[in-house]
Amino acid sequence: MNNFDENKEFVRRPSAQQTPQTARPQSRPVGEQQRPVQGARPQRPAGQTFQRETRMPSQMRGTSQRPPQRPTRPASQRERISPDSQPVKGVNPFNGKNILIFFLMLIALLLIIGLIFFSALSTSKETPESEKKSYVVSYFRGTGEDAVAEKYPSYELGSVSYINMTAIADICGMTVSGGHGVLRFGSGDSEYAEFSAGKNSATINGENVLMGENALERDPGSIWIPLEFAKTLFSSGVEIVVDSEEATVSVMRNADVIKFAVKGATGLGPVDEDPDIGQEIDFEFKTDLSAYEQYMNPADRDGFLILVNKTNHIDGSYIPEKLTILKDTRKDGRANQMMVETAAKALEAMFIELRAAGYNDVSVTSAYRSFAYQESLFNSYYERDRNRYPDWTDEQVKNHVLTYSAFPGTSEHQTGLCCDMHNLGSADVAFAQKEAYKWLKENCWKFGFIIRFPEDKVDITGYSFEPWHYRFVGRYHANAMRQRGMCLEEYVEYLSLTGQN
Ligand code: DAL
Ligand code: ZN
Repeated sequence: MNNFDENKEFVRRPSAQQTPQTARPQSRPVGEQQRPVQGARPQRPAGQTFQRETRMPSQMRGTSQRPPQRPTRPASQRERISPDSQPVKGVNPFNGKNILIFFLMLIALLLIIGLIFFSALSTSKETPESEKKSYVVSYFRGTGEDAVAEKYPSYELGSVSYINMTAIADICGMTVSGGHGVLRFGSGDSEYAEFSAGKNSATINGENVLMGENALERDPGSIWIPLEFAKTLFSSGVEIVVDSEEATVSVMRNADVIKFAVKGATGLGPVDEDPDIGQEIDFEFKTDLSAYEQYMNPADRDGFLILVNKTNHIDGSYIPEKLTILKDTRKDGRANQMMVETAAKALEAMFIELRAAGYNDVSVTSAYRSFAYQESLFNSYYERDRNRYPDWTDEQVKNHVLTYSAFPGTSEHQTGLCCDMHNLGSADVAFAQKEAYKWLKENCWKFGFIIRFPEDKVDITGYSFEPWHYRFVGRYHANAMRQRGMCLEEYVEYLSLTGQN
């Protein structure tokens, strides 16, 4: 998804003095072959040659048929004699041979015209756009005989037809709340459906439901949803009838009480009624950590939720405030580590309890990392794996590295809110077998930490399981994530869909 961006960025090395055209670091940078040199012509794929060709008429684009070659001069012109020209002496322009040529040319011309006509006709039939008409949507205001239709076209994007949810709510008298691309539609009967522009899931009565395609905010305050999904949205009160032949849609009230088809029975329940799930806490520490409470459960409850990942990049120049030296670091070359103060203090508390539980050999090996450091780290992993897997392409090597090391600008180590900690020589998945890990997994939320790259969320985080990587989010959210079984990506999306963020 962002591999190409990454390819582009990867070749940027701070030390490179050469011009982009000549720069070739001694080691092979990832994706170098793919990167077009700025200002240079794009490389042609091997074996492909370019031919200058006349652009086809628009109705012919998208067909594999090429337009027939035109004769160098139309046949009619070839045989025409201008008024000024004199017949060449002794040559009869109307002799039998010339007439034959004239008729042959005429037939060829007619054939060519026929071919062009036929190909234009068949192309227009094949073009999906011309098949895809928009629907005329009648939004009926009122009920029964008195209902009056307000007609608007559907919105067609790709192969999907969209219908205006805000207009449906308007004619049905539903409540509308929210803003900034997230709108909640209330049925007036304690039921609701919430849509977020750009998201393909809706929250209906507390349950996340996939719509197949993203909701769109075409104008501020107007949310459009896929027609196919809209047809299944209501269980009563609103009827949506689609006539594909006539390309019409009718949206009508059919009962006083509006209810949605999804009842939220298997979901989380209406989130508004349970906003404090993160506060349901019942535990005791072995030690007195009262002085650390302000850090583990910070007053700025939502101030530590920043999401940095493969798609949410962090600016290269970003340096967090209040970076604080950590106490519990590995006393070798990795002793000097820092985190943002609140996270550093909460970590200190976690180490006090970890030791009280009998685990004395765990220490922090990596915490805040600058963009430049992450860059050198990523490059060194790349070089290592480039040598380790000589049969792989550069792209394969790079994609492999990206499963365990973040490309510079995508690592949350740059936020100063996370650290790597374990009791092995270097970070390894074998740490998951250690008792100390089991304790951390069970207890880290109490100190405001989460395991950022869990074993069962690899598909979502994009990183392999890292039992050593702990991220501070504060106790409230760490507990909410634990209770909901969500990783940070899911939780941030959940907060957004439920209008909490
Ligand atoms: N190992 C994690 C993904 C990082 O490099 O940030
Ligand atoms: Zn890490």
